[in-house]
Amino acid sequence: MCGIIGYIGARQATPLLVGGLKKLEYRGYDSAGVSVFHEGTSRVVRCRGKLSGLEDKLVREPAPGTVGIGHTRWATHGRPSDENSHPHKVGPISVIHNGIIENHLALRAELAASGAQFSSETDTEIFAHLVSRELATAPDLTTAVRKALVKVRGSYAFVVMSDKEPGTLVAAKNSSPLVVGLGEGENFVASDVTAILSETRKVIFIDEGEIVTVKREGVTITDFDGKPRVRDHKVITWSAVQAEKGGFKHFMLKEIHEQPRAVADTLTGRVDLERDDVTLDGVDLDVAKIKRVVFVACGTSYHASLVGEFLVEALARLPVEVDLASEFRYRDPIIGPGDLVVAVSQSGETLDTMEAVREAKKKGATVLAISNVVESSIPRLCDHAFYTHAGPEIGVASTKAFTTQLVAMALLAIYLGRRTNALSREKARALIGELVQLPQKMRDVVETGAQLQVLARRYGNANGFLFLGRGAQYPIALEGALKLKEISYIHAEGYAAGEMKHGPIALIDETLPVVVLVPRGPHYDKVVSNLAEVRARQGKVLAVATKGDTEIGGHADDVVLVPETAVELQPILTVLPLQMLSYYVADGKGTDVDQPRNLAKSVTVE
Ligand code: G6P
Repeated sequence: MCGIIGYIGARQATPLLVGGLKKLEYRGYDSAGVSVFHEGTSRVVRCRGKLSGLEDKLVREPAPGTVGIGHTRWATHGRPSDENSHPHKVGPISVIHNGIIENHLALRAELAASGAQFSSETDTEIFAHLVSRELATAPDLTTAVRKALVKVRGSYAFVVMSDKEPGTLVAAKNSSPLVVGLGEGENFVASDVTAILSETRKVIFIDEGEIVTVKREGVTITDFDGKPRVRDHKVITWSAVQAEKGGFKHFMLKEIHEQPRAVADTLTGRVDLERDDVTLDGVDLDVAKIKRVVFVACGTSYHASLVGEFLVEALARLPVEVDLASEFRYRDPIIGPGDLVVAVSQSGETLDTMEAVREAKKKGATVLAISNVVESSIPRLCDHAFYTHAGPEIGVASTKAFTTQLVAMALLAIYLGRRTNALSREKARALIGELVQLPQKMRDVVETGAQLQVLARRYGNANGFLFLGRGAQYPIALEGALKLKEISYIHAEGYAAGEMKHGPIALIDETLPVVVLVPRGPHYDKVVSNLAEVRARQGKVLAVATKGDTEIGGHADDVVLVPETAVELQPILTVLPLQMLSYYVADGKGTDVDQPRNLAKSVTVE
């Protein structure tokens, strides 16, 4: 997730671009850069690190001019470095990009074969080459961009500038946000209204599959075939702070809603629908040598690892252990060559997980990191790294980082299963088919927010909650309880449904809400029995079940339904109502949802 901004008008572009980037820095701060047109050519000034580094550089290397583009990067393809910073310039073309080009490897090979020279490891530079080539025969920049887009698959918002047509910026959108800001004799384009709100409140939100040509005197919108689209502008009444949260009250709620897009980004370029297989980017494991898989993680990442255990055992038939990193590192774990240790950490900086990795490496295991932050400490330390591409998560309580970790687990399990031959091609095809449908199904669930708001009001005054689940739903019960306690400060316990009778059942009375995860699947009848045990003791049951389940209503006080999917992938849907329940309970209590007391986003102490 990167921040992008463009300006065309009569004022000096650089201060406006840098001002806008300051508002976008929360989207990523691996590098920052601008390209500004002046006296026949555009000058690119960019550097690794935070925006302040770019500001210092611009003092030494000023970039005058009244047309320009700017970018703040959250690395996906290519490590954070000066060369991988945007804008990327090829011939007369400067490009900034937010998103991922799915077919970048094939395009890079094709371009290289016809003589293209690359100066970065990014997918973005490929697009600069494509536009530059099209420009040789196209009548204008908009046509060149349109022709180049035909070759590109993936999620993106691009802004393109050409030294040959300096009066024009061209932007295109597919899945990544893009907004145009309208001024007097000047116009803006950005990934986020926040970036332009201090300059104009008149905006047009660009839709999927649209190309916008931005000139000083106005903007023209077309679809990818060149057909005009007529769009009205909106006047933004949000405050700057609200705008940063995309109009949502908290970052956590925004991030809950971002999950369908985040999961789509995790899947981008990783599933091969023709070969019924997955690729883990550069990760190439010697699967024949793996005798056991050991997950190490903390907090929410630990819960994702517990789902990983279920998936890897089920699909790859390899023995799996899951350990809390803080326990693993202190118990002289029995580990060695033949073990694949998977360190799961959204931030990539958690100290206990990092030390667990050191321990595993010392003992000769192969270590794979699953992280959301490119080039963070843990992936750098590991033999292999796989990134979830969820975009920066600001709310301390993890939501989109968790669901994208679950998707990463599914991809890893399919990858291993195909290579151990435990997973048939047919079953892999079915699972991959379900995976690609997840973003839409997740969208359906996050749209049920109003129902969860009502339920939060109904149950939010309780002194405690119990969450129950079996199989892959057990970790989701743990995660539901963690989410609720960390942001609402209400005590909550997650339990394996079958264990309830060994203790927690003593807690049950009419004051205890029990959230039961009971989607259709092999454990359904057993969980319904557990649910009956709760109700026989006057416990209040809120069931999370599968759409079309007409039976469950008779066993529960309230029911939340999620779409059907493969059993292995159900956790990715069932966790969503639990996140929303926690959010609305906490919001009802008026706690500091995004920065709950005593917690930190990344814990770098033991
Ligand atoms: C902190 C955060 C949690 C997170 C845990 C592990 O406690 O508040 O949300 O799950 O650290 O973080 P990691 O970055 O390693 O996934």
